[in-house]
Amino acid sequence: MIGNWKMNPASIGEAKRLFLEVKKVSFRRRNAHTIICPPAAFLAELRKLYIGKRIAFGAQNIFAEPAGAYTGEISADMVSSVGASYVILGHSERRAMGETNEEIGRKVDAALVAGLKVILCVGESDRDEHGEYLSYLREELFSALLNVSRQSLKHIFIAYEPLWAIGKTGADAIQPSDLHGTVIFLRKILAEKYDKRSAFALTILYGGSVESENAQALLEEGSVSGFLVGHASLSADEFGAILNIADAHAA
Ligand code: PGA
Repeated sequence: MIGNWKMNPASIGEAKRLFLEVKKVSFRRRNAHTIICPPAAFLAELRKLYIGKRIAFGAQNIFAEPAGAYTGEISADMVSSVGASYVILGHSERRAMGETNEEIGRKVDAALVAGLKVILCVGESDRDEHGEYLSYLREELFSALLNVSRQSLKHIFIAYEPLWAIGKTGADAIQPSDLHGTVIFLRKILAEKYDKRSAFALTILYGGSVESENAQALLEEGSVSGFLVGHASLSADEFGAILNIADAHAA
C-alpha cells in the first residue's frame, strides 16, 4: 500500500504528525506492507521516526543524472541516502509538466543503478472505443523499461493509473472488471518483452481515486496486489481503513 502525499502537507511539523498517525495504523498489519512517499524535503526527518521493516519510504521523483550542475534537481543516491528505498516514476502529474517517455526511461535506469525500487506509473488519459489506449499503454511501458533486464524486473512495480480516475472520489475509480482486463493486457505485453513467468511474477498496483469504499472490490476483482493512494493517504483514518482491507485480503 503506497501513500503518495504529492506536495502535501505544508510543513515538517504537519508531516511528522501525519506520519506518526500513519505509523500507528500501519504498525500492526501483518500482511500488507506500507510505503510512504512524502515530499523529498521531509524524507530525512520522517525516516528518523521509524526504524523497522513494516514501513518503507519512497521519493516522488528523481533526476536521471547522478550529480552535476543541475540546479534544483535531486539524484537517486541523494534520496536513497536519506532513507528512500523506492521512487515513483512516470506519474501522470509529472508527465503533464513535460516529462517524456524517454526521460522516464533514463530515470528508471538511474534509480536501478542506485539500488532504488521503482514504482512505475502508466495510464491512459481516456479510453477510446477502438482500444488505441492500449497502444499508448504499451508505448509508455516499453519505453520506460527499454534498458531493464529480466533480472532487474523484480525491482519494478507497475502502478496502473488511468488519468481520468485520478484525484476524484471513489465512485469515479475504474470498474473492477475493467481493471482486471487491463492487468491481463499489461501482463500479456510484458510477457512479449520478457517471458510469461517474469510477467506474471511482477507486482501490478492500481491508483486513481482509491478509497476505503472501493478498495475491497478493486483488490478482489481487479487482480492487483495493492494501491498507489493519493488524496486518501493524507488521512490516517482513511489510509488505515484501506490498509485494513488490504491486510485482510492478503491474509
Ligand atoms: P488519487 O491519486 O488517489 O488522489 O486519485 C492517485 C495518484 O495520483 O497517485
